[in-house]
Amino acid sequence: MNIRDATEADLPAIAEIYNVAVASRQSTADTEPVSVESRLPWLRNRDRATRPLWVMDADGAVAAWLSVDSFHSRPAYNITAEVSVYVATAYRRRGIARRLLQEAIRHGGSAGTRTFVALIFGHNEPSIALFEGFGFQRWAHLPGVTELDGVERDVVILGLRIDGRGAARINHRQVLRAHDKKNVCFGCLELEEIFSNPLHQR
Ligand SMILES: CC(C)(COP(=O)(O)OP(=O)(O)OC[C@H]1O[C@@H](n2cnc3c(N)ncnc32)[C@H](O)[C@@H]1OP(=O)(O)O)[C@@H](O)C(=O)NCCC(=O)NCCS
Repeated sequence: MNIRDATEADLPAIAEIYNVAVASRQSTADTEPVSVESRLPWLRNRDRATRPLWVMDADGAVAAWLSVDSFHSRPAYNITAEVSVYVATAYRRRGIARRLLQEAIRHGGSAGTRTFVALIFGHNEPSIALFEGFGFQRWAHLPGVTELDGVERDVVILGLRIDGRGAARINHRQVLRAHDKKNVCFGCLELEEIFSNPLHQR
């Protein structure tokens, strides 16, 4: 498996993976399936250097995708990016989202991004666990701001500060709290791997 830039030829697979998530009511505030055509401007109108769209290629099949999008259109927000990751059901629990997110954090630091945010439903526990494992912290809790099939749902905004080298400015206590909770501090391990500079020695 390898990570590569998404092309227009990948859009049917990208939309298919996304539409499974739409139907799940757990991952996105879109309520209707998206079409390939509707995704074209999203793919075309981006600065690939700072707002990449990648797929995880599994022997020619698209197993997952990750997108870095602008958090807000106003220019002062350019240092902040929103990250989203979607994995095809058949490829979940194999560390694919972790690999993509690790790459996004590594890339973001060199691309001038200082902060990553992720907007996630409060009931999307797998995703929250994924991001918290990288040291993302809960910066906002928006109660009942969405409605899915007549049920109001909360949204949390998770955030991670990164510096110019891509190294996370993680509050070490926060990482240790994540460690306590999960018994596996993979955020710590991943970030150590990324920067070859053990966080524990900073
Ligand atoms: C959330 C999602 C991206 C995880 O992808 P994945 O490739 O299966 O995740 P990984 O195998 O890399 O797992 C990394 C960590 O995420 C968390 N995680 C992933 N799936 C989980 C699950 N079903 N339950 C609990 N934690 C889970 C765990 O902390 C896991 O670490 P661990 O294996 O050491 O426990 C995937 O379930 C998905 O595509 N969901 C639908 C889309 C979505 O919700 N995206 C997030 C919004 S941006």
